[in-house]
Amino acid sequence: MRLSRRLDQFGSEVFAALNERRRELEADGREVIDLSIGTPDFLPMPHVMDALADTAHDPASWKYALRDSPEMVQAVIDYYETRFGVGGITPEMVMSVRGTQEGMVHVCSALVDPGDIALIPDPCYPVFAASTLLAGARPWYYPLTEETGFLPDVSAIPDEVADAARYMVVSLPSNPVGSVGSPQLYEDIIEFARAHDVVIIHDNAYADIVFDGPAGGSFLSYPGASEVGVEFLSLSKSFNITGLRISYLVGNPEIVAGARLLRSQVDFGMPLPAQRVAIACLTGPREQLEVQRMQYQERRDALCDGLEGLGWERPHAKGSMFVWARIPGGRQDSMAFALELMERAGVIVTPGASFGPSGEGYVRFALVQPPERLREACEAMSKAGF
Ligand SMILES: Cc1ncc(COP(=O)(O)O)c(C=O)c1O
Repeated sequence: MRLSRRLDQFGSEVFAALNERRRELEADGREVIDLSIGTPDFLPMPHVMDALADTAHDPASWKYALRDSPEMVQAVIDYYETRFGVGGITPEMVMSVRGTQEGMVHVCSALVDPGDIALIPDPCYPVFAASTLLAGARPWYYPLTEETGFLPDVSAIPDEVADAARYMVVSLPSNPVGSVGSPQLYEDIIEFARAHDVVIIHDNAYADIVFDGPAGGSFLSYPGASEVGVEFLSLSKSFNITGLRISYLVGNPEIVAGARLLRSQVDFGMPLPAQRVAIACLTGPREQLEVQRMQYQERRDALCDGLEGLGWERPHAKGSMFVWARIPGGRQDSMAFALELMERAGVIVTPGASFGPSGEGYVRFALVQPPERLREACEAMSKAGF
């Protein structure tokens, strides 16, 4: 059978390879500590679970949604105002998506034609590159490396590339490198976008996981942001509802309208039960988010202290639920290192190379276990000689 050449662009799944080996080890009775996938171990808040349970008995819940309910759109608008201090969002500037991952694929397709250029971070959350490739566009990778402070540097993007680029994906706090943006950085990015007519797509998945200071903000809080771009606001990580697939595209109404038109060809809208859950998250109490943020920070401290104790370079983890650690001894082969770490220490991490070429030489630890368990992971690594 002949399948599309489009598929040739996507390699084998790293997580699948790691999982297969993990199953073999567990079948042999080995204990493993899985720090590879970014699925929070925290639970959704009780009122959020109740919202889903309550909606099950309403016959209307089981029908096609067809559109975002005005109540949910208003909840997003109010959330931007009260959580991020961003006023002036109108209903035309808000659209639900079934997770940022899906939304990214559709918004990228709505912005480019085959052969166009898009600016993508390297390393990055893999869907940023995949959505660009699926749209037939060509990624131009800008580095997020130690030399750039793990942050985008728009001044290093050549003018001819910037002029040709249709959009730039920015995502801070960053998965996988854990860096966090500053007002100056966002102002520079907006100025760059205006000067070169580049759309900014900001993925704000980790606004509620920022360390050593206040919680994160929104790209849309900066002057001119909604003229040049859009932001994805995912509820997955803040509210521990990764499996329900709730996120929003918010910002420039023209971009939102384009994404809506494209998306309406393939989807009948966010299921009504998910819309009820979203309203519960967006309008409910928020104290738990701050408690959780501190818990992530404790985990970050436990892991970074442990790695430093092992003689690893202390990672500069400032936000997101990940710690990006340089493999000691100058080793570059992150996949081989991750497999060795699993075999010898029973600790599962994600190889840096799976996030892009600049990820080689690093591994990513997900902060998805309590501090004690992270200390145990470091002890196991110590015993195994890492
Ligand atoms: C940067 C980033 N964006 C988006 C997502 C996923 O968001 P969603 O669950 O809304 O698709 C993740 C998940 O790991 C992520 O790291």
